[in-house]
Amino acid sequence: MTEYFGDILQATLRRRDFLKTALWGAAGLALSQVEAGVAASFSSSSLSFATIYPNKDDKVTLPAGFNQGIVIRWGDALDNGPNLDWNRLHESVTAVEVERQKRCFGYNCDFVGYLEAPQGRRLLVVNHEYTNPEIMFRGFEKRPNQWQAALQREAHGVSVVEIQPQGRGGWRYVKGSSYNRRITGSTPCEIGGPLQGHPLMCTQYDPRGRLVYGTLNNCAAGKTPWGTVLTCEENFHSYFGGSEAQLSGQVRELHKRYGVPSDRADRYGFYLYESRFNIEKEPNEAFRFGWVVEVDPLNPNRPAVKRTALGRFRHEAATTVVAPDGRVVVYMGDDARFEYIYKFITKGKYNPRQREANWGLLDEGTLYVARFNENLGGEWLQIASIKGTQIIPNPALPDVFQADPGLCLINSRGAADALGATKMDRPEDVEWNPVTKTIWVALTYNERRTTSDRANPRTENVMGHVLEMAEAGGNPTALRFQWQIPLLCGEPGATASNRQLLLYGQAVDKTVPAISAPDNFAFDMRGNVWIATDGNPGSSRLQKNDGVYVLNPFRREFKMFLSGVPGSEICGPEFTTDNRTFFCAIQHPGEGAKSTAELPTRWPYGDNVVIPRPTVIAVWRQDGRQVYV
Ligand code: FEO
Ligand code: CA
Ligand code: CA
Ligand code: CA
Repeated sequence: MTEYFGDILQATLRRRDFLKTALWGAAGLALSQVEAGVAASFSSSSLSFATIYPNKDDKVTLPAGFNQGIVIRWGDALDNGPNLDWNRLHESVTAVEVERQKRCFGYNCDFVGYLEAPQGRRLLVVNHEYTNPEIMFRGFEKRPNQWQAALQREAHGVSVVEIQPQGRGGWRYVKGSSYNRRITGSTPCEIGGPLQGHPLMCTQYDPRGRLVYGTLNNCAAGKTPWGTVLTCEENFHSYFGGSEAQLSGQVRELHKRYGVPSDRADRYGFYLYESRFNIEKEPNEAFRFGWVVEVDPLNPNRPAVKRTALGRFRHEAATTVVAPDGRVVVYMGDDARFEYIYKFITKGKYNPRQREANWGLLDEGTLYVARFNENLGGEWLQIASIKGTQIIPNPALPDVFQADPGLCLINSRGAADALGATKMDRPEDVEWNPVTKTIWVALTYNERRTTSDRANPRTENVMGHVLEMAEAGGNPTALRFQWQIPLLCGEPGATASNRQLLLYGQAVDKTVPAISAPDNFAFDMRGNVWIATDGNPGSSRLQKNDGVYVLNPFRREFKMFLSGVPGSEICGPEFTTDNRTFFCAIQHPGEGAKSTAELPTRWPYGDNVVIPRPTVIAVWRQDGRQVYV
């Protein structure tokens, strides 16, 4: 027996308090039933830094003994040209700024992936989720002009950028590196996998259903074992406008399930100037977004590919693990209220000797969705298998999916509805912890929940929670799992049950920091769970800046490591391979201000810039040791 499970195995079922019993030990599940693999030696070390607490300061706060530095900011040039002229575009955007944005770091950095390239070179792959026109452009009201819309489109997507160590612990990006690359909302991307050429994937500009301009709303992502990045299209519906009145019944219903058209389309304005974003003129373009997109950072000339076998929803992230038999499993969340958790198991096996053999591995396999049972067990329900270009639906799915199997992927949500999957409280990150060999799920919040179940145990769940899944036998290809809730987010000592922080079912004292809205995870080499938040500032939550927290799942310690600046969320927690640097993205600093006249911050300041800039930072220990020590 390891210490990780030692005391929960002794716990007794406390039926009086439903919220405190979602622990696999409390349910009488023995370690042999859960079979997560945990090295006992890890359990003896604790987090040595002194916790910080949520604050509203206009600076990035760290514990004593750590340093921080800027790596790259919105508008920094990736080529050898000039940076974006932030003050000029704030007053007036022209074609000059739009062209520069195509070669400069994008806005609202989200996922941050660290990769090691040949010859000792190091890369960051960074997502650019969305834009804040009310902060970027002075006097912005409801809709952008043509150039403001185009600049926003080019500020979306992905950046690949080479970085180098600098001084004692910091990093700088390399201007003009041959690896540097932008993929934006207009870059040609391929449609890969079984939906290539499907009638709903064809448009007037692409009648063969093979090529899409751009990837949008790239939120989180994941790195594959073969060194590519799976960037995820999340709130893609936001860009599509126009009236649904003239659409066919099927297309209208499918779009409705995914939130198309969106009342957010005006703020981006794409549909005002590009007909493909207007559903009246191009009903199918929206079907070509909402996918996982594979990017090869080592080959700047290789087009990104939308991997349609992985299903279509508001993809938060896609994280991979290699199973003992060599197949690859991808875990994914659909970040919307009452949506689902999915996984995909490849048909083929990972080839560690030949990198190229893995390009296309994600085009064949089986897509599943999770059902959580009240007994702390659960199962993966098969949606469809993909063999070659053939899609074979689960026979239990309704006739409409049998008649057009492509709908299993285009309308993964509808298939999951039909199978009775469990509707979750906004699944954000879903990640395999290589040390605990369990899956960590961030359920950010769902204030609209009126009926609870055991996996989503709070009605009006304003604070969110963290759920842990253990696949049967510790094998990611298993179709059954156990689960528990290590963290119900909130404030220590809060009296309302939907606001109280519970750590492994236990109330904590006020020395433990409050947390809400968990979003993304990173794991250090000891298996500690680093949690970045997106929502602490909310009026129903902490009304403090977002931050990064660390949960030691062996000792059940919980501390706060970093606090961001007003209006920002913290994204992309990531470590270097040696764990001596921690990277994160400070996304949308100043968000919440109606205009730049009332900005709460202009962070990271400098350059006489009048607006704040989304920025990736590096954090390191002053003594040069691993960050987790
Ligand atoms: Fe873009 Fe789900 O956070
Ligand atoms: Ca975000
Ligand atoms: Ca997110
Ligand atoms: Ca979020």
